[in-house]
Amino acid sequence: MPDARALFFSTGYLANINAITGISRLAEQGQASIYSAKLNHASLIDGVRLTSAQTKAKINLFDHQNLDLLEEALKQDTLPLKLIVVDGVFSMDGDIAPVEKLLHIAEQYDALLMVDDAHGFGVLGEQGHGILEQADVHSERIIYVGTLGKAAGVSGAFICAAAPFIEWLIQKGRPYKLIQIWNEEMNFSRWEKTPSSTPIQPVILGSNANALAAAKLLDEAGYWIPAIRPPTVPVGNSRLRITFSANHSADDLRELIKTLKSIEKHVESNL
Ligand SMILES: Cc1ncc(COP(=O)(O)O)c(C=O)c1O
Repeated sequence: MPDARALFFSTGYLANINAITGISRLAEQGQASIYSAKLNHASLIDGVRLTSAQTKAKINLFDHQNLDLLEEALKQDTLPLKLIVVDGVFSMDGDIAPVEKLLHIAEQYDALLMVDDAHGFGVLGEQGHGILEQADVHSERIIYVGTLGKAAGVSGAFICAAAPFIEWLIQKGRPYKLIQIWNEEMNFSRWEKTPSSTPIQPVILGSNANALAAAKLLDEAGYWIPAIRPPTVPVGNSRLRITFSANHSADDLRELIKTLKSIEKHVESNL
């Protein structure tokens, strides 16, 4: 696939929820149809239901062994965004989704195809790259989810898709958006940021006194951001430990950045 990118998540469940809700938001409210295989994994079912509740996307269930009804429904579908969602390997029956046929149908009816290859990644294909390698299909219409908690033997998951889809998911996925704003807009003149790409964003101030003074000013401004001191961190490395959560909005973060910039003027750093 030309110019593909990937996005990592802590679990397959989260990757599936993010992929379905994010891709469906490419359309306006009520303007997406999701075609979900009846035997899909619970995380896909949850993702589809959540998306429908949030975006009023229309849900259609189909039998992955009989694609005639899927085709019939797509033929009559006039909504601008159509997303077909399947497991690569159906986890209770062990059979494999007919991805070649599904892609052909997706191309014919201008739909996107999302494949959750939790049980195929590391197993199917000569190199173990999964169902797409085995079926030898490549397309910018495919949104591929691989999980790392099965054949790879660790944990986590990734969404791999054409670069613009991944960029869109970054913009729409709240934690990623917050980290991006933080990295672009928060520049300290006295204090120091660490190169963190996670919701934990420490700000190093040096001495205990500095970290405590900054935490006190933040507290007075309505922010609970604890001062972390030795022995939790090395001597001379006291810091503010800022943690983003999914409940924070971009506006919350911008307010915090404004507050931090004003407080920085009153608290020295002795790094
Ligand atoms: C098909 C399928 N998709 C997604 C998941 C969720 O993956 P995770 O356990 O990493 O959340 C599973 C887990 O069992 C699964 O079987």
